[in-house]
Amino acid sequence: MQQKRIAVMVSGGGSNLQAIIDAIDSGYIKGCRIAIVISNKAGVFALERARGAGIPGCVITPAEFKDKHEYNRHLLKVLKENDIDYIVLAGYLSILAPEIVDAYRYKIINIHPSLIPSFCGMGFYGSRVHKAVLDYGVKLTGATVHFVDEQADTGPIILQQAVEVQEGDTVDTLSKRVLEVEHKLLPLAVKLLVEGRLKVDGRWVSITKKEE
Ligand code: GRF
Repeated sequence: MQQKRIAVMVSGGGSNLQAIIDAIDSGYIKGCRIAIVISNKAGVFALERARGAGIPGCVITPAEFKDKHEYNRHLLKVLKENDIDYIVLAGYLSILAPEIVDAYRYKIINIHPSLIPSFCGMGFYGSRVHKAVLDYGVKLTGATVHFVDEQADTGPIILQQAVEVQEGDTVDTLSKRVLEVEHKLLPLAVKLLVEGRLKVDGRWVSITKKEE
């Protein structure tokens, strides 16, 4: 069977990218390869990780283009040129334009470091999420993988895993514990996506059995 081709979009350290790279290398995720890593920022460590894994990386920043339309047109061109089947947002801190979401409907997934619909949406990213969790005093937070639609963190939810907030937690200690869960949840979601086992019915996402 033809290997599926994945684009991973990043903006920072790339630890979630590394989790996917490792899951493919170990054979946990089969039938696909990361064809390209796209960053919206130059010099991020995620691009080093791609280089280390022999995966082509590129930087496509909105500022390079005369307007958002040109930026998105170029992004779509790069995705098509690389015959991309699926897109994984792994610490990617930008909202994909409707034309890209449309072209890859239910083929784009994102990892968010909270239990959506709590502590998500515009302005909730990285350590800001964990600070809001601690400020509110919730006892449970966690990680969510969801399909990407036109808004921030609003697409149908694929997988979630809870993480207990512990006495004396700081943004640093909590984010580390949530990141460990992210590094398991995202590779599982990629595996299910590539195996065609995610079926969307309205807001509900079913995980179907693997065909024998
Ligand atoms: C992670 O918390 C992820 O949930 C969020 O960005 C953070 C950094 O991810 N989207 P990474 O280390 O760049 O993968």
